[in-house]
Amino acid sequence: MTLALSSELAMPTPTAPQAYSPGLEGIIAGESAICQVDPNAGLVYRGYDVHDLAARSTFEDVAWLLLHGQLPTAAESEAFRQSLAAASPLPDPIKQALALFPKNMHSIDALRTGVSMLAPFDPQLDDNSHAANIAKSMRLIARVSSIITAAQRVRTGQEPLIALGENLPHPARFFFTLTGREPQAWQSTAMNTIFTLYAEHDFNASTFSARVTASTLADIYAAVTSAIGTLKGPLHGGANEAAIHVLEEVATPDRADAWVADRLARHEKIMGFGHRVYRTGDSRVPVMRNLLKQLGDQLHQPHWHANAGALEAAVLKQKGLYANVDLYAAPVLHLLGIPAELNTSIFAAARIAGWCAHVTEQHDHNRLIRPRSLYTGPAPRKLQ
Ligand code: COA
Repeated sequence: MTLALSSELAMPTPTAPQAYSPGLEGIIAGESAICQVDPNAGLVYRGYDVHDLAARSTFEDVAWLLLHGQLPTAAESEAFRQSLAAASPLPDPIKQALALFPKNMHSIDALRTGVSMLAPFDPQLDDNSHAANIAKSMRLIARVSSIITAAQRVRTGQEPLIALGENLPHPARFFFTLTGREPQAWQSTAMNTIFTLYAEHDFNASTFSARVTASTLADIYAAVTSAIGTLKGPLHGGANEAAIHVLEEVATPDRADAWVADRLARHEKIMGFGHRVYRTGDSRVPVMRNLLKQLGDQLHQPHWHANAGALEAAVLKQKGLYANVDLYAAPVLHLLGIPAELNTSIFAAARIAGWCAHVTEQHDHNRLIRPRSLYTGPAPRKLQ
């Protein structure tokens, strides 16, 4: 819905009529050369279809593409992978701080705090030049994963394993340093697909908040800390943790219709469904759905795919809404043996690439992001 600003308000009037759209729906809030989201289920990173990237690229190449605008050469790709592995260790005070965090601290809160703590250890902290932002982006991509895996291991009474698997691709290293188990080929492939699909998504809420922060010329760590705070919410990144509980509650495909009817009758949202931009389905769903089918068959747990499919059909029939990527990512992560409370952090481990590309782009062409509100308060009045 678009409303015109009320001319009755006794406020300084803008020079031109302003459009208002609740939730900024449909508003073009800036220019970007990084990613294109097509409402009719297309997703393109720097001109490349995400389906092709998920099938044929590595996360390292995708991150490089997002940061630099073109795919790396083989030599650049390998050098970038090595740089990520080399930058993974955390400063000692941060490792010590992880041990002080409460044991019940959620992974995404530990990550937000950890990234904020990393800032003063970066030698280029307040340098917002393109070259410095690219260098800091590499360190952030490496260390966001390190904080997530180390915090989880410390929280569960285990030693952090940040240095493991220095010859592995980044998403496979994430798996190794989290679980302590060297990933098999299928686990590396699945992690790479998840990281690639979650790496970037245009002006979503967390990326936009990163850009707003960066637009004040605050540094990239401040911007990423804002982004992680925004990602936490269940309407955004938090949905992929909630989605696994939805599938567990539905339990069997024959219960899906009744379960959905009950939820909708109570006007409750169903996590893993709906999207602000996609109106005919989320472009990432077919890839993630295929991955779930493949892993479910391989691990003799086909019910996850069956339940998600039945739920999709029921929500589409009863509410006309399509599934988003979180509905399928949640059971894929479950089949990889990853605890659900890490789902949102894994989203962050991948999306850090997109956040960093957007912060760099914002700083390179900066103008302060400062919209206006539609005033709905009292008319001007005098103090008595
Ligand atoms: N479950 C049930 N109903 C939903 C819904 C969901 N997941 N998502 C949207 N709706 C309903 C709205 O209540 C509204 O119903 P109404 O017309 O009867 O009032 C209608 O569908 C249109 O939704 P809209 O308000 O346009 O959605 P939005 O663009 O403001 O919100 C989301 C988009 C993503 C926040 C929303 O779909 C949502 O909350 N989804 C669940 C969380 C989630 O999975 N987030 C991850 C996104 S990738």
